[in-house]
Amino acid sequence: MGLLKYMEERARMVEREIDRWVSRGLEPEILARATRYLLEAGGKRLRPCLALTACEAVGGKAEDALEAAAALELLHNFTLIHDDIMDQDEFRRNVKTVHILWGVPIAVIAGDALFAKVFEALAANAKRLGLEGARVVELFDTVSKASFEICQGQVLDMLFEKRADVSEAEYIRMVSGKTGALLEASMKVGALLGKGEPEQVRALAEYGRLIGLAFQMRDDVLGVAGEQEKFGKPIGSDVREGKQTLIVVRALATAPQEDKSTLLRALGKRDASEAELKAAIDVLKRTGAIDYVAERARELVAQAKSKLKALPESRARKILSELADFTIKRDF
Ligand code: IPE
Ligand code: IPE
Ligand code: MG
Ligand code: MG
Repeated sequence: MGLLKYMEERARMVEREIDRWVSRGLEPEILARATRYLLEAGGKRLRPCLALTACEAVGGKAEDALEAAAALELLHNFTLIHDDIMDQDEFRRNVKTVHILWGVPIAVIAGDALFAKVFEALAANAKRLGLEGARVVELFDTVSKASFEICQGQVLDMLFEKRADVSEAEYIRMVSGKTGALLEASMKVGALLGKGEPEQVRALAEYGRLIGLAFQMRDDVLGVAGEQEKFGKPIGSDVREGKQTLIVVRALATAPQEDKSTLLRALGKRDASEAELKAAIDVLKRTGAIDYVAERARELVAQAKSKLKALPESRARKILSELADFTIKRDF
């Protein structure tokens, strides 16, 4: 079975579970609509897929991590709703963002509501399995700490918008928080619920962090060089918002002065003209900054795959290896 088909299958499984936790009947009705809207718009369901596969890779059954897998997708969607407010983005998953449709106050509370459901679903999972006390504590500790790390990463992301001298190390710290933390947590949660040995849990967690970095780098590339219809988000909005993606960091550090000026003319300018935006993106393409980032992402994926050696050979391990490649080959 191809990887995409596998991901589809896992997505359907977790979507049924998501319906249990964020049901159509939630009251007041506007809360049901605003919380379900982005979930229903689709998405790759990568985080639940990682959790279910991690669970299997340590010898568990995918079903053992079902509620937690749904919880991870809820947590992800919560961060996306709030992220779109922070980034002032109007489209995601090819539909309008929650705050554009319902306004910022409802979007804030819709995100909070999803976040609350995360812990309810996790608790149900631990209860159903009769999970041992120490593992329950680690489960909640993992998700709580990842949630805080996301906040740290998101704050750095916003602080960097005001700077033009962000280093590669600073970029990695930011992305490790905003994206790496949740991919790591997804792997760890799956491995904990599958009753993995401590060193297996650790190796899978490290794999998750590494593919998280690579995943975000690929996202940054798609954000300037992708196809909008497939990607589902506006191309070039990172530039307009002044985001210090690794591509921009690299270009600012290495491009000739004239190219740098062209880039800076559009960077952080929401009302940049289409011509200014295109010229800035051309600089990113021409100076090799995009190729550089793609190469860095390939290195991270290779490192991530080497972590999988800590696990016995299995179908799940093979899929994790394919998922690592997917993070940098995807165009959506
Ligand atoms: C988007 O995540 C936010 C990033 C961390 C880049 P995804 O690319 O996983 O978004 P969906 O869930 O598939 O829409
Ligand atoms: C999203 O980061 C990360 C979180 C939601 C925590 P970005 O702002 O870079 O991702 P997109 O491009 O909006 O999906
Ligand atoms: Mg964003
Ligand atoms: Mg953002």
